[in-house]
Amino acid sequence: MDTAVIQIDGLADIIRARQSVRDTAHALGMTLADQTRIATSVSELTRNIIQYAGKGTVTITGEKNKGYVRIRVVVSDNGPGIADIEEALGDGFSTSGGLGMGLPGVKRLVEDFEIKSRPGHGTTVSIAVSRRLWV
Ligand SMILES: Nc1ncnc2c1ncn2[C@@H]1O[C@H](COP(=O)(O)OP(=O)(O)OP(=O)(O)O)[C@@H](O)[C@H]1O
Ligand SMILES: [Mg+2]
Repeated sequence: MDTAVIQIDGLADIIRARQSVRDTAHALGMTLADQTRIATSVSELTRNIIQYAGKGTVTITGEKNKGYVRIRVVVSDNGPGIADIEEALGDGFSTSGGLGMGLPGVKRLVEDFEIKSRPGHGTTVSIAVSRRLWV
């Protein structure tokens, strides 16, 4: 198990986080489709950090287990938080005039999706993609 932490503080960090996640997924032997799913998800979540919280962190953990490999990514900030998570996860909900497709899109792209948010304290989204190994 290997963990990397990337600070998100500006637009260039979105690219760095996306690339780092893709590299980790590739190193774990994940398919191109899985690499893209997790990288696209991290793009959306870090874009939200820049847009709504200003800064935050991305923690990437690659796991090799007996029957499967997994990449887990935790995207966290101490920004304003989300008042109504149910609403924020709905297609088309946006407080910034965006498409409102970021969070619901990510939820559909990954296998594991957990969001925790406390208004005034911040938001943490944890996602994972795994691949079964046939032995
Ligand atoms: N990290 C965050 N901190 C605070 N609020 C957030 C955060 N991420 C999302 N939100 C809130 O949830 C809403 C929905 O987010 P989502 O990413 O789905 O859509 P969007 O960012 O508005 O538009 P899009 O991502 O399609 O350009 C946002 O408009 C914002 O109000
Ligand atoms: Mg968004």
